[in-house]
Parts: sequence; structure tokens; C-alpha cells
Amino acid sequence: MTKANNHSRKVSDPLITFDQENRVFHLHNQYISYLLAIDEGGIMSHLYFGRAVRHYHGQRQSPRLDRGFSGNLPGTTDRTYSLDSLLREYSGQGDGDFRTPALIVRQADGSRSVFLTYQSYQIIAGKPRLKGLPAAYVKDDEEAQTLIITLVDQLTSLEVALTYTIYRDRKVIARSVKIKNAGQTTVHLEKAASLQIDFHNRTLDVISLPGAHVNERHEQREKVGFGSKVFSSSRGTTSHQMNSFIALCEPKTDEFHGEVYGFNFVYSGNHKESVERDQFKQTRLTVGINDDQFDWQLGPDESFQTPEVLLAYSDHGLNDLSQTYHHLLRERVSRGKNQFRQRPIVINNWEATFFDFNELKLKKIVDEAKNVGIEMFVLDDGWFGHRDNDDSSLGDWRVFKKKFPHGLKKFSDYVHQQGMKMGIWFEPEMISYDSDLYRQHPDYMLRVPDREPTPSRDQYVLDMGRQAVRDNLFNQMKQVLKDADIDYVKWDMNRHITDVYSSVLPPQQQGETLHRYVLGLYELLERLTSEFPDILWEGCSGGGGRIDAGMMYYMPQSWTSDNTDAIARLTIQYGTSLAYPISSMTAHVSESPNQQTGRATPLQTRADVAMSGVFGYELDLTKMSAAEKAAIAKQVATYKAIRPIIQFGDFIRLINPSQGNRCAWLFVTADKSEAVVFSFQVLSSAQPAFNVLKLAGLNGNWDYQNIATGKVIGGDELMNTGFYETIDKFDFSSHMYHFKAVSD
Ligand code: GLA
Repeated sequence: MTKANNHSRKVSDPLITFDQENRVFHLHNQYISYLLAIDEGGIMSHLYFGRAVRHYHGQRQSPRLDRGFSGNLPGTTDRTYSLDSLLREYSGQGDGDFRTPALIVRQADGSRSVFLTYQSYQIIAGKPRLKGLPAAYVKDDEEAQTLIITLVDQLTSLEVALTYTIYRDRKVIARSVKIKNAGQTTVHLEKAASLQIDFHNRTLDVISLPGAHVNERHEQREKVGFGSKVFSSSRGTTSHQMNSFIALCEPKTDEFHGEVYGFNFVYSGNHKESVERDQFKQTRLTVGINDDQFDWQLGPDESFQTPEVLLAYSDHGLNDLSQTYHHLLRERVSRGKNQFRQRPIVINNWEATFFDFNELKLKKIVDEAKNVGIEMFVLDDGWFGHRDNDDSSLGDWRVFKKKFPHGLKKFSDYVHQQGMKMGIWFEPEMISYDSDLYRQHPDYMLRVPDREPTPSRDQYVLDMGRQAVRDNLFNQMKQVLKDADIDYVKWDMNRHITDVYSSVLPPQQQGETLHRYVLGLYELLERLTSEFPDILWEGCSGGGGRIDAGMMYYMPQSWTSDNTDAIARLTIQYGTSLAYPISSMTAHVSESPNQQTGRATPLQTRADVAMSGVFGYELDLTKMSAAEKAAIAKQVATYKAIRPIIQFGDFIRLINPSQGNRCAWLFVTADKSEAVVFSFQVLSSAQPAFNVLKLAGLNGNWDYQNIATGKVIGGDELMNTGFYETIDKFDFSSHMYHFKAVSD
């Protein structure tokens, strides 16, 4: 973590100040400052976001210059002041700012022009909740302050409230926008971004997390060039294809050095992050709900609340930025009884049996799991309706009697009698044609009238925006969760959304369908997680298709990827850790050769990769040899010993697997007294290089003992000289090192 600057602030110090003379707002804590000004004509301009300054003296006023083809304020003759070149806080369309707008409003007369000027401000203690939306929160109003700046379009009386919360002890600002129609006529929001931020002329890189199903969140880094580059999802969910996290950094920024700005969108539907470098080398970023397929009707007196974006800043590189997010998401986005609880080691039957199981077969796996010390059995897809493969029964959340002739409760009792917990899989948002739900309520699914809907995995999507649909799901799920005494739920979503049309919305509101879907999903999650607060909820969407800060508000962990190959997981988990905490990433040991890649890897390497997350197994233990089971029992015991450090310690990336043949990362306790390091070699070679591994995040003044060898080494040595790793003459090898401080 960055050291505090030499001035430190008291608990009661204001975090937000308004300088009347310069008309500048300053949000600041010991780490960061954010400056914005009420500029000429009441335009909100952006001055600065970055390392903290104590006090702003007005020296960073936007320069003025007469430039061709850059228009000026309506009704003025000053040619040196143009919205086309000003760094701004939130831009509409049609006001002479030709860059990417944050807001597009279609007025009743067909015009899309708005001219937003400053109206008022308010500074409040704490952080207000966003109705119906997930968001970062405070436990105590002393933790943060919030600035709300209201802009208005005088002609239409559209009010735009820009909200900024700064935390006292975090390098974080949360931003969202509320748009109110205070006029007389109905308007349509065609775009309502949650954030716009402009950077002055500087060279920047953009980091994004693209991927695919079974190949999620690979760190991609490129130069921000002239023109616009859009990162987005139009798939109805966050998506495997492009995560909703983005970062801008200096070209020289690496894991340990340099400035970086992170933007983590707290939303689980279509999103868009648009980066534009303009003609004057300034960069604009907008983040928000994707305007593709979005059109929100706003009648008189109605308001629209955007989801929020969590901005984080570091001048100490990517690891420091990630740690800010890990702490924030774990401590002030995740909620509930399981937020800080150690997560159980699971055995999941999916890759062990797929749909081919019954009570007897599963009991044998449970017995074996108990013997090796596993703590929870997760019953995956195929336990309900008459589901023997993936073409039926979604929507019918009643036990499949053929597989469980004595009911689910009996099986769950058996698991509990073995001293294990019982988990179960649901895919609530889906419907199969072959289901009682479809036969009774064909109108519950999203479909365009008279059009043949697009199948995907033989299934269709329910209209989660409808109360009746949510009530139906709530009642069915409640019955199962109560009756069968369930401890954990895996909430899956196995296709993307097409046929975007709701049978209960009028034509002029069809553009609201996808956002209403997400709001409905959140409402159902809120209801279920409140009704069953002891259950550990795990998100999933064909693996990691819906890993985002929004889902983390309801479910503290998520299945990271359907790709369980240890080597593929290195890059997936490395990329995911950029924005999301380790306690949210589940990782399982599966069989070798791997079912997704066909690659054979050592059992130890598979375990070391999976132990770098929320640990479990996903293979048929009944088919394993005695030696393998003994090795697994050892792995389980090891994980139990290091679990608190892994799940709740600080995580530091050391070697990026996408840059070579190696990968390494480490976990360290907050007090730096204990660290666990994993290092991996991908391919072996006949003339291997001698590789030094250097650690980070330890106390240089302390000595540490390597638990396996008993050898004592200085923290400064481990970080500065490092040590040579042993040479492995086989592919896909791994090493774990466990250090404990022996003196201070
Ligand atoms: C998704 C999940 C898997 C498994 C299957 C079951 O792909 O990611 O883990 O639950 O669905 O159909």
C-alpha cells in the first residue's frame, strides 16, 4: 500500500470542500484528489484526478484558445472558450462538444440537444444507497462524504445529478448519475452513462479484460490512439467476451510502479466503456449501460438512476490498484453472513458425472470426499424436472424422482450426516420448451411477437423484469431451499439474451427490457439472499460470464471459468485478479487430461492453481487410486492451513503468465507475518534458464522461515536477492513456498 503523505487527516476533517472564489470542488483524502470546477457559463469542467494535493490554489484553470471548427457558448462572442476542447464532467449532445457524449436525450419534438449548466450542490455525510441497484456502501457516515452536483437543461427542465462519494481511507471515488425529468413532457433517454472523465494531453495505455467462454478475462493492454475504441457487451450480461472493468495507465506502469486509474462498473447487464482520444490529444472515457438496445422513457417527475462506477487510483502500479479493489469489493460491496467467513472446500459432481448420476452414485462420491476431508458436496445440473441432458426442465425446480427416489431431503440428510454441507445448482433465469413452466406460462419468456426465438443450448430466457416471473421463481426456489436444508447455491446462467421484447411493456418502452431484466434479477437476488441469509451464494454464468462488482453485492463468490485446465487457469485467474478479490474466485481440481483442453497436468499443479482461489474438486473420487486419494487428502489439509491467507490476505502478482513460460503470485497476511507463494513453469526445456524468484509485500526488517525446509531468510533478501528455483524436467510444474516471520 502507498504510504500516507506527510500530512494526515483527522476523522472529522472534511473530505469535500468548495472553494467559493475559484468555484472549485475538491474531493480529497490522504491518497487522492479529485478537482472539478464550475466554469464559465455554468459548465462543469474537470480539472484533476490523481495523487493527493493539500489545497488547490487555482493554477489549473482550463486554458483558452480560439480554434477553428470548435464552436463557442451560445449567445457569446468569446471565440476562445469552447466546449469542444474543455475537459468536462458530463456531456450531452448538441452543445458543441463533438466528443463521445455521456447523455443522449430524445425530446418530444425529436431534438436530441441538451445544454447542461450548474444549478446547485450538496455535500452529505456517508454514502446514499442506490435504490434497486447494487453499490458500494459505508457502515458509518464517518467513512465517506458525498458530493451531489445538480446540472439542469433550462429549456426542458431536465435535471442531472452527478454524485461523487470519496472514502476517507481508500483510494476510491464512487460515481453515479440520477436524471430527473422536471419538465412537462415525456422524454427518452437513449444513453445515460454513469461516468465521464476527461484526461489532459498525456500518453495513456488502456487495459481491458476480453475473453470467451472457457477463456475469460485475459489482460489486454494497448495504446490509446486517436479515435474511439469501445469495449462493451450487448449480450444482456456482463459477458465472458468483455468484462466491465477497464483501466487507464501510463505506458511505463507495471505491477509495482506507475500511475493507473481503474474503473469498475457495478452492473451485471450490457455495458460500454468507450475511450476516445480527441484532436487535441485529450482522452475521454465514458462508462455505463450500453446504449445499444437501450431507450428509457422518462415521464414528467420520473427519475432514472444509473448504476455506479468505482474509480480507483494508484501511483504504485497495478498490484496496488488491485489491492484497493480487493479490499473495497470484499469489505464494502459484498454483504451477508458469508462475507468474511472462510469458504468450505467443495466437491462438485459436474465434471465427475455430468447428467449421468443418481443418489447411489453420488453417495459414493460423498463418502470418498468425506474421507479426504472435503467439507461440502455440490449437486450440480440435472437434479430437477426430468433432466437427463441439457434440453429440458429449466423452470421446473422440483426434484427428479428417478434420480432421487427418496427425495432431496433424504440425500441432503445423508450429506449432513457425513459432517459435510450440502450445495445445489439452479439456473433460475431460464426456461426449456420441454417444461411445465413453459406449458403453463409460454408468455414468461422474452420473445418478439411472431418471430421464432433464437435457441442457445436448447433454452430460452425468462423475462426477469416481470413480477409474476420473479414470484414464481422465488416460490419454487424457497420450497427447495427450505425443504432440503441447503447450505450453498450455485446460481448459473447459461446463455446470452436474444429476442429482447417483453410481453408486458408497451412499444415505446421496449428499449427498457434489458435494464428491467437486470433490475428484476437484482430484486429476486435481494429477496432470496435476505430470506436465506445463511446460504453461501455463488454466481456463475457458463463459468465466469457474469463476474462483476454488481453480482458481488449479492453473491460473495463466483465460478471463475468452465475451463478447469490448470495452465489455462493461470492467465484467467491472473487477469481476473486485476479487478476482483481472490475470495470471489472459485477454482477446482479436475481430472487429467483436462476435459476442455485435453492437456495432461500433474495433480500437484492442478491443486496449486486451484488453491490460489476458493478451493474445491470437480472429479470422480471413486475412480482415483489410493495414492491419488492420499495426495488429495494432503492437499485438503494444506489448504485448510493456508485458507485464511489465501481468501482474506493480500494478493500480489509477481510474474505474468502471458509474458513468458512462468507465472508466480503470492498471498500475505495484513501484518506481513506469513506468506504463501506459488510459482509455475509451463514448458520444460533441455537447456533451461536459471530463474530467480523475488517476492514482494514482506517486511524487509524481519526474517522468515521456509516452513518446508526450516531455512531462515531475511524479508529483504526474499524481496531483493530472491532465490533460484529448482529445475523441473517436466512440463506444467509448480512449487508452493510457505514463509512465516520468525522475528521482528
Ligand atoms: C455451466 C457451469 C458449469 C455447470 C454447467 C451445468 O456451464 O459453469 O459449472 O454447472 O453449467 O449445466
